[in-house]
Amino acid sequence: MWHFSHFSFFSFCCLYIFLVIIPHQKGSNIAATSVDIINQTCKTCADESYTVDYIFCLTSLQVIPVSHVTNLHGLALIAMELALRNATNTVSGIKKSLNGTAFDPFALACLENCLELYSGSVRTIVDSIGAFVSEHYVIAKVWLSTVMEAVATCEEGFAEKKGEVPPLTKENYDLFQLCNIALCIIHLLTPPLPP
Ligand SMILES: *[C@@H]1O[C@H](CO)[C@@H](O)[C@H](O)[C@H]1NC(C)=O
Ligand SMILES: *[C@@H]1O[C@H](CO)[C@@H](O)[C@H](O)[C@H]1NC(C)=O
Ligand SMILES: *[C@@H]1O[C@H](CO)[C@@H](O)[C@H](O)[C@H]1NC(C)=O
Repeated sequence: MWHFSHFSFFSFCCLYIFLVIIPHQKGSNIAATSVDIINQTCKTCADESYTVDYIFCLTSLQVIPVSHVTNLHGLALIAMELALRNATNTVSGIKKSLNGTAFDPFALACLENCLELYSGSVRTIVDSIGAFVSEHYVIAKVWLSTVMEAVATCEEGFAEKKGEVPPLTKENYDLFQLCNIALCIIHLLTPPLPP
């Protein structure tokens, strides 16, 4: 099948594809690559940003089917989709708790403010995904930072009154982390500025 007498650049490429690329496309190797890429990306992000929690990053990105993670681009999308799901769940969680238990007026006002912040964040994350897929990475990063500021504002609201137990600390932390991870991955994808 191989005519080495006709060896050319073209056949060299074919050979390269058969020997090097195709073996790496096999299922088992995709799984191994995915674990590696998640592990390495989380490590890099935790090293670069002291606010990224390596274990959180690892455990949240590992829930997705490994076959879906093939590169950094896919990983960034997944992080943003996790953030979107998170924010959407929190919006319904806040609505439910506003409906049920009685809150003191201060906590009620805080929760309503958080509801507004989270509803805005859902739209902002959607915008961020849109910016990312159209390769407007800088804009995507700005939107993600906006969401991180929003959850910080939500958390700080409750701190204004002594003794108030902030009810959304875990939700705020989770969304902050997911956006932070997405931000870091997009940052890794951003080509450096020309000198
Ligand atoms: C991630 O990589 C580190 C260092 O290479 C290794 O010790 C660790 O077992 C890996 N963890 C997973 C979940 O693959
Ligand atoms: C948010 O994401 C984290 C990590 O993926 C998860 O543990 C948590 O349950 C999610 N929270 C909501 C409200 O969806
Ligand atoms: C709020 O309570 C009302 C009546 O108990 C119910 O019909 C409604 O579905 C609830 N809304 C949410 C968001 O849980």
